[in-house]
Amino acid sequence: MTETPLSEQAATWWRTSICDISPGQIAFRGYPIEDLIGRVSFPAMIWLMLRGDLPEPQHEELLQAALVASVDHGPHAPSIAIAQMAVSCGLPLNGAMASAINTLDDVHGGAGEQALELYANVLERMDAGAKIGEAAAAAIDVFTAAKGAYLPGFGHRFHPIDPRSGRLLELVDACVGKGGVAGRHAAAARAVEAALRMRKGKLIPMNIDGATAVIYGELGFAPPLARGVFCLSRAVGILAHAWEQTGRKDRNKGPMPKAFGYRYEGQPRRRLPER
Ligand SMILES: CC(C)(COP(=O)(O)OP(=O)(O)OC[C@H]1O[C@@H](n2cnc3c(N)ncnc32)[C@H](O)[C@@H]1OP(=O)(O)O)[C@@H](O)C(=O)NCCC(=O)NCCS
Repeated sequence: MTETPLSEQAATWWRTSICDISPGQIAFRGYPIEDLIGRVSFPAMIWLMLRGDLPEPQHEELLQAALVASVDHGPHAPSIAIAQMAVSCGLPLNGAMASAINTLDDVHGGAGEQALELYANVLERMDAGAKIGEAAAAAIDVFTAAKGAYLPGFGHRFHPIDPRSGRLLELVDACVGKGGVAGRHAAAARAVEAALRMRKGKLIPMNIDGATAVIYGELGFAPPLARGVFCLSRAVGILAHAWEQTGRKDRNKGPMPKAFGYRYEGQPRRRLPER
């Protein structure tokens, strides 16, 4: 039997180092909310909540760039399509957002987590003495043996070259130039892209998840947070499309207009045998 008072047991059960709230007082990571309001940007607030302290301005800028870059990819992106369909079925905005965010998994939007793990594997091999090209090739082999041929963070359904990736890497390079980040994740990602190109005989370019994973890695975010922070960003686009759909009359909107059928691939029409 423990002798700790029940009230203390309950407080320990719900312990946190994030926010400290008492009647009339709210503080995050030690900073009173009245100090934060009006002085701290939303990206800096995200950093404070997740990392425990405020970011350096140049790190805040990189995080902001990643958040801006991934807000939306139009109604053909599964998450956005789901948000529209959910609203047309009567879900309120929060329900539509939850449904949409649930699709941000390994193949769509959530690939950043795996991409960051892949880059980390390259970097571990380099720390153990491997040259960057060998490290990338070995990390790709390990990934494909475990998870299949599609490397996370590379390739895109629509874009031959993802217009977001180059700009994001440009900002990373500029930050490296100012000594703000080390540039190791950017180098690892580029080495993976080069190794993939050699294997496939064509460029499978880095996509938004691969490029934002570079930023999250350079900034020291753990791989699962690459996915989590991506969800924060994409939630903006999801909300905007769900809200736009709210103003429309569509009811029970399916994935295609009614005039378009689908292909049936099952048994030809047949009869139940007579008993
Ligand atoms: C996003 C994705 C689904 C788009 O796929 P797609 O354009 O329909 O590509 P396909 O499946 O038609 O593949 C076309 C070719 O590129 C190759 N390819 C495409 N993406 C690849 C990847 N990430 N890794 C390795 N090869 C890839 C395919 O093997 C195929 O090669 P082949 O012509 O020799 O058969 C795919 O690139 C992917 O799964 N990427 C990884 C997950 C990811 O990063 N998701 C976030 C997207 S923003």
